[in-house]
Parts: sequence; C-alpha cells; structure tokens
Amino acid sequence: MMNKGEQIISIIGCQWGDEGKGKLVDYLAKQVNIVARAGGGSNAGHTVLVDGKKHVFHLLPSGILHESVTCLIGNGVVIHIPALITELEYLSRVGICYKNRIVISDRAHILFGFHQEIDKINETSDGVVQIGTTKRGIGPCYSSKIERIGIRIGDLLHFESDFEPKFRTLARTCCQRYKSLKIDEDAELEAYRHYAEVLKDFIIDGIEYLHRHINQGRRLLIEGANATMLDIDLGTYPFVTSSNPSIGGCCYGLGIPLNIPNKIIGIAKAYTTRTGFGPFPTELPDDDPIKEYLTTIGQEYGTTTGRKRRCGWLDLVQLRYAAMVNGFNCLALTKLDILSHLQEVKVAIAYFHNGEKLKSFPSTTKLLNELEVQYATFPGWNEPINGLTYEQLPKKLLDFLTYIERQLSIPIKYIGTGPSRDDILICDA
Ligand code: GDP
Ligand code: IMO
Ligand code: MG
Repeated sequence: MMNKGEQIISIIGCQWGDEGKGKLVDYLAKQVNIVARAGGGSNAGHTVLVDGKKHVFHLLPSGILHESVTCLIGNGVVIHIPALITELEYLSRVGICYKNRIVISDRAHILFGFHQEIDKINETSDGVVQIGTTKRGIGPCYSSKIERIGIRIGDLLHFESDFEPKFRTLARTCCQRYKSLKIDEDAELEAYRHYAEVLKDFIIDGIEYLHRHINQGRRLLIEGANATMLDIDLGTYPFVTSSNPSIGGCCYGLGIPLNIPNKIIGIAKAYTTRTGFGPFPTELPDDDPIKEYLTTIGQEYGTTTGRKRRCGWLDLVQLRYAAMVNGFNCLALTKLDILSHLQEVKVAIAYFHNGEKLKSFPSTTKLLNELEVQYATFPGWNEPINGLTYEQLPKKLLDFLTYIERQLSIPIKYIGTGPSRDDILICDA
C-alpha cells in the first residue's frame, strides 16, 4: 500500500522501454486521484491485462480503467488528435465511462499527420541516420516545438485568430523543407475545426489544475512513457526518442517543481529489451537459443509497432546509471516469471574497454559498440512463480533479487510474476 506521505509517485522506465509501466500504473492507480502523462506521444504502448482482456494505451494514461481516477495529458506530451480520438472511441466501445475523467493541458503540442509523414521520410532517406523510430511523428513534432513554430492544444480554442495562421505557417515551412510532402491546408483546417469542437471540453490549464489539486491534498501518479535510455539528453543518443522520459521530464512535462516530495519508482524487466536501432551492450547474439526463448516466452513484440524486440540479459551498469540520474527510491522488477525455465540467469556487472573498467555507462555509440561486458551467473530457479505469494518464492530467486538490491543499493519493492493486473507481489521483507 501507499504510505500517507506519498502524495506524488512517479513511475520511470529504467531501460529502453516496455518494462511494464502500464501494468504497474494500473495497479497503483486505485490509490490515487490523478494519473498523468508528462511526455512522449503515441510512440508509447502501455498494456494492462484485466480478466484476460488486453487494453493498450498510447496517449491516455493507464489509470483510466479506475472510475475514481482523473487522467491528465500533460503539457510535455505531443498529441496526434486522431489517435487520441481512436482511444476515446475504444473506451466507449468497451464500456469505460470517461466523462469528466480526462483533461488535456492547453500547453501540450499537436502532432500533425505531416509530422508522421516527415518521420517516415527521415527514416527512409539516404544519408540520414536511421533510428528505427515508431514512425509516429514524435521527432518532427518535438522539432517544431523546439523551433517555436509548433502549435499547442490551447490554440484550437482560438481557431481563426491563432490556430489557422499558425497552421498555415507550419505547413508551408514543412513543405518547403520536404519537397515530397503534400498538405491540403483547407481540408486539414476543416478537420481541425471539427477536432476543436470535439476536444474543447477536455482542454484545461494543466499546470493550474495540477497545483490546485496537489494543494488540496489529492494524490498524483505520474506515468512515465518511453524510458531513461531513450532520453534525448541521458540516453543512447542519437538512438533515442525526442523527449526527456526521465524524472526531469516529468517536472517540465507537468509544470511541477524539482523540490516537490516525490516517490520515484524505477521499473525494469528482469532482462533487457530494446526496439529500434542503437547500442545494446547485453544483447544476446541472434543464434543464441536464449534470445529466441526470451522473445517467444516473453512475447517480446512491440506494443505499438509489432516489431520483434531485441533481447538480452539484465544490465546492472545500465541500471546503476538510470538509478543515478533519476534518484529512484525503489524498483519494480517485472517479468521474473519469464526467466523461470532457464538453467542459469546472467546479469552484467561491469563494462571494459581496451582492458580498462569503465566508471559509468558511456556516452558514445563507438564506445558502447566496442565494450566487453562482464557477467555474474546465477543458478535458475527452474519453477513457475505465477500465482505464488512472496513467501512462497524460490530461495534462488530471492537470492537473485537480494544481489540486485545490494549492487544497486535500492530496494526492490514490486516484482512481476505474470502479465495480469494482479500478477504483482509487494516485497516488504
Ligand atoms: P510499457 O510500455 O512499459 O507499459 O510495457 P508494454 O505494455 O509495452 O510491454 C510490457 C509487456 O509485458 C506487456 O505485454 C505486459 O502485459 C507484459 N508484462 C508486464 N509485466 C509482466 C510480468 O511481470 N510478467 C509477464 N509475463 N508479463 C508482463
Ligand atoms: P513505452 O512507453 C519502446 C523507441 C523506438 C525507437 C526510438 C525513437 O511503450 O515504453 P520515436 O518513435 O520515439 O522517435 O522512436 O525510441 N521507443 C520506444 N521503444 N517503448 C517505447 O515506449 C518507446 N518509445 C520510443 O523504438 O528506437
Ligand atoms: Mg510499451
């Protein structure tokens, strides 16, 4: 259970995404009043499995399944409005009432269809580094924002005076840069006039809203999207997303100050996965049967794109770095059930380059690609753990957890023993 003092809790992905954030958010949401997304867009894919029914959220916070929760899409998020409407339609279809339960910050940026087109062009052009993006337009939309030619959700409320001229300027700027891009400005404006009508009751001043509710003692759960190693500043640049999915991004993406008391939960898989390109020190070779095992048994296929995720061992050098930059108070370790049938389990404990031990997770692609990784090997626990209580967990698994806690000097508070909503154990030991 959540302690009384824990008014704000953040859940931050420690690795390269898909650690199980959606599931943990859904699990903790019943104890809070507001669940907020602070960054990213529909590149995120967050899964919640309830009574055999799989819900996947891309823009909507995963707290939406709890009737008492209000969901805030914060100012740091980039919103593709048709994708958002698709998610709202999904809620209606499955009978989840969202009336007065979704609010959208007027400062959030609009991600247009042409941002997605540009993402696709960039990913297929010669001479441009290919990131393996989700092609959801994330990089181009954040580029418009940083260039100060982006358009905010709040501009929809002042359609003729603000939205229309800004839209025409943005569209023309993009067409000048990308010759193959075609934008029918009038048709787009017509569509956005309709979206403005659909969304007008959702749009609020997200910062005023959040501070008012925090001051009234309401509890907030911040749902990290993407993950630390995909952070534009802290991750494996340039093979990253275009936002700050680490804890700092949560502050900026919601307008809350750094000194506000905040319990920060780092969430990691018990092994590592990555979609898209870029360095991955503990990735298993393609012909290693354990890679195939993790992909198949772990069902490691992207939630957003369906791409096969690259798989490898847990990496304590990488996790120590994530813990250092985020200041985790505790960890959630997911998918331990997936390791249940392995004879032995490995974790990376050190990186070497030219025989020298590195002090921290390195910054350059070159170094990351040339590393030698040192592993510690643990005997597998070799029994299914789904459905067990914490006290029933095999000793070998508990030893494995203790080792990780000691190496990182952070307690593991939650462990995942299966994909369903309740397949979480709280470690109070
Ligand atoms: P997110 O992006 O961090 O929310 O994670 P995703 O939803 O993209 O991917 C995590 C996948 O692992 C989903 O299919 C979840 O249902 C599943 N999952 C989460 N926790 C566990 C766990 O402890 N065990 C198993 N077997 N699956 C899990
Ligand atoms: P969740 O929230 C996994 C990865 C993409 C690509 C890189 C850049 O579900 O954990 P982008 O489309 O953001 O420009 O792609 O970042 N990526 C993710 N990988 N889970 C995510 O989100 C991701 N969000 C972005 O695969 O390598
Ligand atoms: Mg995901």
